[in-house]
Amino acid sequence: MRKKAILVTGAAGEIGQALIKSLAERHPSHLLSLDLQSLPESAAHMTTHFQGDIMDKALLSRLVSEYEFEAIYHLAALLSTRAEFTPEAAHRVNVEGTLVLLQMAAEQSEWRGQPVKFIFPSSIAAYGMPDLETKTNYARVREWEWNYPRTMYGCNKLYCEQLGIYYSRHYRQLAADRPVMLDFRCVRFPGLISAFTVPSGGTSDYGPEMLHAAAKKEPYACFVREDVRIPFMAMPDAIKSLLLLTDAPKERLKRLVYNVTSFSLSASDFHERVLQAFPDAEITFQPDIKRQAIVDSWPADLDDSSACRDWDWQPDYDVERAFDEYLVPNIRKRYQ
Ligand SMILES: NC(=O)c1ccc[n+]([C@@H]2O[C@H](COP(=O)([O-])OP(=O)(O)OC[C@H]3O[C@@H](n4cnc5c(N)ncnc54)[C@H](O)[C@@H]3O)[C@@H](O)[C@H]2O)c1
Repeated sequence: MRKKAILVTGAAGEIGQALIKSLAERHPSHLLSLDLQSLPESAAHMTTHFQGDIMDKALLSRLVSEYEFEAIYHLAALLSTRAEFTPEAAHRVNVEGTLVLLQMAAEQSEWRGQPVKFIFPSSIAAYGMPDLETKTNYARVREWEWNYPRTMYGCNKLYCEQLGIYYSRHYRQLAADRPVMLDFRCVRFPGLISAFTVPSGGTSDYGPEMLHAAAKKEPYACFVREDVRIPFMAMPDAIKSLLLLTDAPKERLKRLVYNVTSFSLSASDFHERVLQAFPDAEITFQPDIKRQAIVDSWPADLDDSSACRDWDWQPDYDVERAFDEYLVPNIRKRYQ
């Protein structure tokens, strides 16, 4: 008999480490994780961890033969900046890797006669505003607007959303019998900020990097202009959104891809908040024109009213609470 399990790919990453802690409280006995990296000690005892590649078919076959997946949180990916340096490798991991997992979830859904929930984090990178004037005029972008990504990562995310919808609604649509299909659910995240991990490889990283550098008393050169504005969210809210969406009754979901967000800040707003907490912070602005252009193509804010309506989404941390209660005290403690 296969053992029931929840699988988290990319579990050693920023979101993965936080998610594992919350999932371990809900499913203490059957949490599995998979990542190229080992897990840090703080999370390792909470899950059965497999160190390996999502593209390793032999490893996945082994998992499938032993476990019945009730849900898969597919987080493993190459992030936006990294993906721009190695676009073909990013396509392999982000698209082909997702396809392999969707196929696995589709087969398991049929085999168990019940949909496997497939939870997928997409990104503001799925959007592409053509110029700054449009970005200003369309501040709160809805899910179906401006889906013209200008990065490989954004293209990968947008296409994987469509693949997820296909596997959830139209998979094997010409077959004689309709299969039991997987249950794909996706959130488009803004830039995420964690107090406990430092990001790497993303293009919204200037926010969290500024904050962590200030706490470490290290100088920091911000790679975007002061007026650049994008939405952000504190990590506990990112985890909250993934869990709320997982639990939402299917009949309430009018969409499969939802924006979620918390607050929108310009880089100079971010700088001011950092200075309030760390008045000696040495932060300068030295825009990298090329990375800057990517951030300029992302919306200034997201409209997350569909998520609020369909699954009662609401962030716990507005900008004040995020900085005053979560980020600053925890980051201070971390580098003391
Ligand atoms: N952090 C953000 O601001 C943000 C925003 C929007 C969306 N997301 C998405 O959320 C997910 C997790 O993001 P994160 O910030 O935790 O990223 P991260 O880079 O911290 O973690 C990604 C993890 O995936 C693993 N990984 C990469 N390739 C793999 C492979 N071939 N096989 C197995 N593991 C592999 C890495 O080792 C890493 O631990 C990603 O899909 C990302 O696109 C993140």
